[in-house]
Amino acid sequence: MKTSFLLAASTATILDFAAANALPNPQPYPPPHSNEAYSPPFYPSPWMDPNAPGWEQAYAQAKEFVSGLTLLEKVNLTTGVGWMGEKCVGNVGTVPRLGLRSLCMQDGPLGLRFNRYNSAFATGLTAAASWSRHLWVDRGTALGSEAKNKGVDVLLGPVAGPLGRNPNGGRNVEGFGNDPYLAGVALADTVTGIQNAGTVACAKHFLLNEQEHFRQVGEANGYGYPIKEALSSNVDDKTIHEVYGWPFQDAVKAGVGSIMCSYNQVNNSYACQNSKLLNGLLKEEYGFQGFVMSDWQAQHAGVSTAAAGLDMTMPGDTLFNTGASYFGSNLTLAVLNGTVPEWRIDDMVMRIMASFFKVGKSINNLVDTNFDSWTDGEFGYVQAAVNENWEKVNYGVDVRADHANHIREAGAKGTVILKNNGILPLNKPKFLTVIGEDAGSNPAGPNGCGDRGCDDGTLAMEWGSGTTNFPYLVTPDTAIQNQALQDGSRYESILNNYATSAIQSLVSQPEAIAIVFANSDSGEGYLHPDGNEGDRKNITLWKNGDDLIKTVAANNAKTIVVVHSTGPVILKDYAVHPNISAIVWAGTPGQESGNSLVDILYGKQSPGRTPFTWGPSLESYGVQVMTTPNNGNNAPQDDFTEGAFIDYRYFDKVAPGKPRSSDKAPTYEFGFGLSWSTFKFSNLQIQKNNAGPLNPTTGKTIAAPALGTFSKNLKDYGFPKNIRRIKEFIYPYLSSTSSGQAASGDSHYGQTAKQFLPAGATDGSPQPRSPSSGEPGGNRQLYDVIYTITATITNTGKVMDDAVPQLYLSHGGPNEPVRVLRGFDRIERIAPGQSVTFKADLTRRDISNWDTKTQQWVVTKFPKTVYVGSSSRDLPLSARLP
Ligand code: BGC
Repeated sequence: MKTSFLLAASTATILDFAAANALPNPQPYPPPHSNEAYSPPFYPSPWMDPNAPGWEQAYAQAKEFVSGLTLLEKVNLTTGVGWMGEKCVGNVGTVPRLGLRSLCMQDGPLGLRFNRYNSAFATGLTAAASWSRHLWVDRGTALGSEAKNKGVDVLLGPVAGPLGRNPNGGRNVEGFGNDPYLAGVALADTVTGIQNAGTVACAKHFLLNEQEHFRQVGEANGYGYPIKEALSSNVDDKTIHEVYGWPFQDAVKAGVGSIMCSYNQVNNSYACQNSKLLNGLLKEEYGFQGFVMSDWQAQHAGVSTAAAGLDMTMPGDTLFNTGASYFGSNLTLAVLNGTVPEWRIDDMVMRIMASFFKVGKSINNLVDTNFDSWTDGEFGYVQAAVNENWEKVNYGVDVRADHANHIREAGAKGTVILKNNGILPLNKPKFLTVIGEDAGSNPAGPNGCGDRGCDDGTLAMEWGSGTTNFPYLVTPDTAIQNQALQDGSRYESILNNYATSAIQSLVSQPEAIAIVFANSDSGEGYLHPDGNEGDRKNITLWKNGDDLIKTVAANNAKTIVVVHSTGPVILKDYAVHPNISAIVWAGTPGQESGNSLVDILYGKQSPGRTPFTWGPSLESYGVQVMTTPNNGNNAPQDDFTEGAFIDYRYFDKVAPGKPRSSDKAPTYEFGFGLSWSTFKFSNLQIQKNNAGPLNPTTGKTIAAPALGTFSKNLKDYGFPKNIRRIKEFIYPYLSSTSSGQAASGDSHYGQTAKQFLPAGATDGSPQPRSPSSGEPGGNRQLYDVIYTITATITNTGKVMDDAVPQLYLSHGGPNEPVRVLRGFDRIERIAPGQSVTFKADLTRRDISNWDTKTQQWVVTKFPKTVYVGSSSRDLPLSARLP
């Protein structure tokens, strides 16, 4: 049976469990759209494992706390108080009896949204381009410490969904590039950093939220498409395991405390009520012990979502400011009347509190939330939605510490040099000109557009919820001018993209070097600068950028192109343009933008490597964002028929070895980036380790624990007399005991619950383990190191530099990608003449494919080859795996 169908009837109105349970004839299965993609059921929702490695102590602490909670308190922890009902973008209810303040959830992946005196880090995509694990951990640690010191408990990031299937997907930039291996390592390292700093990380968005268009019905209606359900990403089991789920599996292995389910449907079941995804994949197979939180308004039903594995609803109301919730009092009632089993609410709360304790938090030692999302002023309404409780809300706590140093370094090391005819690094140039609006500041200030929803001035982050306020923004114009003054260079900049004749006469002066800036922006679907509904309409440069570059290059033979962008843009012509001496992708680097860039332009730091392919056109990627619904007003059906063949896997398939100038080959391939020196790769060695065969997990789980008891007397659940009810605020109390009476107490409850929920959903007896499950991350033997590969890298150039060796694997077999990334390192500061050893461990999972039949990772019989080199197409070393 299909989970989404169960809930379809309840999406329009707030689900009244009493009424739902009273339905005489539950709707028949299978579902009406059986010709469309279908997500199989997985029930019951797996409960926590007290012995899960890394979670034992947190589990014990949580158990002690949760066992003492009343049902109302438990419900309070699962349910947001409503949009703008507290200081953070999301807050749950409190447990005042035990001194627990409201837990605060705040965006986001590159810094604290709606905040002040915080840092603005590079986006995930720019961080990815450094290929540096220590920088990822440092970035996470800094993010986690800023969150903690502001009184944020759960940081809503990092991101690996979207992964970046579509080159023009609006939010790809929040994540770490579209290779699952690279994204998985970066996601896990970021989680580790955030959580080591004492903040719960929330890996998002699970799963397959690969485009902004049609992710939410209301939004789509707003731009003219009267669809009734959100887009369904239809993806096969193998691709989910090998591509889109992969990074999340890594995050689970790293102990991530929370995961956000996404807006879209997956195989026609909403991600936040898709039992296959949440129960089957995430909690059973990956062994996720933390809690699943909904994206904001991504929950579309009550009991069914709890049964499908949702643990916390955000921001708590059904839609912003309805004053009603699918959880809250409805969940209280559902537990009281037995529709939701007691063990399930206990598991929901255990997961939330175990994550809390796991990162080292304690109830009595929490930093008070010392900022407010809804006002910049010192005072504000705590319940800003309804102007209630005016008090001091912003304490101006400066949490930035020395993070600017990290941001500058990471921004530089994540800047990619795509072309360099020897003009870089600059060395005290006599006359430097800087051209283009993207080098300068936004006339309205760096935070002039809400959630950065415009493209004015230099681009240093995307738009949407994954943004923060800049504490300052060092523009390229400022930073390059500072350097020029130090060097005694002559310096002039023109920041108006349309001042064509002034630009022509400036850059054509003798001895002028021209650095021309252009950008391409994107972001989240609720904002639409220049008609881009989150996703980019195209992958050309904005604001006349392409003409600007052509004008400059036509008049100056020493043109350096600098691109700030949220993904690929078309560089095909510039790659071969004789006057364009260098092309630099500066990504979206955050507050230190100009300084980071100067460090690369002047050769003070080593650059990064591109974490995605630069194709010659949007079409060259084989897939792109669906912008017109294809299913009438029903859910648009986005069939991922390309399977694993996205980005370089696709280019390698259709244009193996084709030259840069071809229409099908990449202009710059995945993993590519020039450096200051040259490196020789030699001496590939393969060591096979004796790991033995994979033993599928067998046996059963423990029975679902139920913790504590609670009153069955409905009178204990009414709205307390001593509390003033705040409008729109979500409470756990029953609105009246008589409605509660009508909805419970009846002897046929057990039966209707069974009919209403899918088979097995309420069964708390020991459950069989799936073969690939085991611990957080899955079967422990998936991570056995089967091969250890080493190679020698020698700096054959004249300067000290970083190398970024990459290892690719060909799995063999007729339907597999030519090769996939399976190892990398950034080895820093290799001296001229020096040799270093690159080492990569290949785990069992790395060399396996997902077998849909046995539901296991298997090493196929096809011969496998490893390749080592400096990009996905520059691989001088290769050998068969023995
Ligand atoms: C976004 C999430 C974000 C949430 C809270 C949603 O619209 O998709 O990424 O965390 O809002 O701001």
